[in-house]
Formats: sequence, C-alpha cells, structure tokens
Amino acid sequence: MLFDTHAHLLAEQFEADRAEVLARFKGEGVTLYLEAGTTAADSAKAIEWAQAHEGVFAGAGIHPHEAGEANAADIDALAGLLQKEKCVALGEIGLDYHYDFSPRDVQKQVFEAQLCLAAAQKVPVVIHDREAHGDMLAMLSAFKGRVYGVMHCYSGSVEDAKRLLDMGYYISFSGSVTFKNAARLPEVAAYVPHDRILAETDSPYMAPVPKRGQRNNPGNVRLVVEKLAALRGIGFEQMAAQTRENGKRLFGIGDN
Ligand code: NI
Repeated sequence: MLFDTHAHLLAEQFEADRAEVLARFKGEGVTLYLEAGTTAADSAKAIEWAQAHEGVFAGAGIHPHEAGEANAADIDALAGLLQKEKCVALGEIGLDYHYDFSPRDVQKQVFEAQLCLAAAQKVPVVIHDREAHGDMLAMLSAFKGRVYGVMHCYSGSVEDAKRLLDMGYYISFSGSVTFKNAARLPEVAAYVPHDRILAETDSPYMAPVPKRGQRNNPGNVRLVVEKLAALRGIGFEQMAAQTRENGKRLFGIGDN
C-alpha cells in the first residue's frame, strides 16, 4: 500500500475523469494521497474533496505562482481552513525563480506570512523550491525550530538536503528521480535517512520514466518508490512501507 504525498487531482487536466482516476489508483494500492492547495479558494475545494473521499487528505496554501494575486484576507482564510477536518498541512508554499510568475519580493512576503502561520498553528508545511535554494534556506533558517515539514519534489544537492534534515524537514522525491538527467538526485535519494524520506507524484506533472511527458496520476507513485528502493538497495515492499509510515507520521494521519 502506497502514499502519494503530493498531487493535484483538482487540476483542470482531470476535469473529465477525476472520479475514475481516483478509483483506479486506489484499486492499484495507492490508498492515501495528499491534495496540495495552490490558492485560498482552491484549498477550500481541496478540503471538501478530501472530506468526501476516504484516504484523501488536503493541504491549504498559496503557491508562489499565485502569490501576486494573494492578499491579507487570503492568509486569514488559510488560518480558518487549517482548522478543518482532513486538512493536514500548510501547502504548497514557497519560492519559484524559474517561472517568476509572481515578483520575487511578493513571493517572499507571502511565503513568510505563511511560515508565520505554520509556526503559530504548529502544522507541517509543504514547500516548493524551484531555483531559489539560497533564499529558501535563508528563510527556513530564520524559522528553525518553529516550522517543520517537507521539501516537495526535491531538486537540490546533498549539502542542501543535509541542512534541511538538520532543521527537521523531510525530503520528498517525485518522478524527477527517475529521469536520465536527474544528475545529483540519485545520490541524494541514497543519502536521506529511512525515517525522513517521502514519495510523491506531483500529478498531473512530473510523470516518471517510462511515462515521462504523459499526464501523471498518483498510481505512478509506484514507479517512484521502485526507483528509490533500487537506489537505496532495499526491497520495494520495505520502501513502500517506509514512505507510507513517514507520510502518516509527518501529517499526523492515524490508521488509514
Ligand atoms: Ni505541487
């Protein structure tokens, strides 16, 4: 049984067949998944979706792409959403200097406001960091000991992973760990301690090899777990159990 700790089934790519996709991957053994919110409005929908479906949990957060459109009322709304049943994380939040869809100073302001909220409510954060490693580590260091969570779709170095682990973060691997050009990711995947590693799909994006380029779905977390098991020299079942238990511990999910 598998836990996909990061997906976006509410994305428009699933508009036509969302319920069928959910039923299919549950039938394939992916019995837990976390729907990551990207705006306050969309986070409210993620929570409703989670409450309506067994094994589905939600994160509420404002994605860096959406930071430019966010205002103080959205942050207040998140504070309320985090209290709702089946909302287990603040995310996804972070910095994205690859696309720069929102100005960097605004991204940082919105990210910092959400880190403050996470510290106040003591909920785990789900972090997106694309080509912003320096600012990211500086901002997380400022909240060291007050904020914890997961670095999703990890793309950094072993050295950065070590700093994040030292601050109490989990490291989550997506389909990018299966890519031929993954460069340093295999080394990081072998390095992370067994009780701090997670697996995810980031569906509908990041489909693992051999499905790269296709619409991704949580059923493909199996391919990520297979790759992690091979890189770490352990069996698939053990890797599946570790990533599932780690996800349940981080997000405070009981018997599911
Ligand atoms: Ni995401």
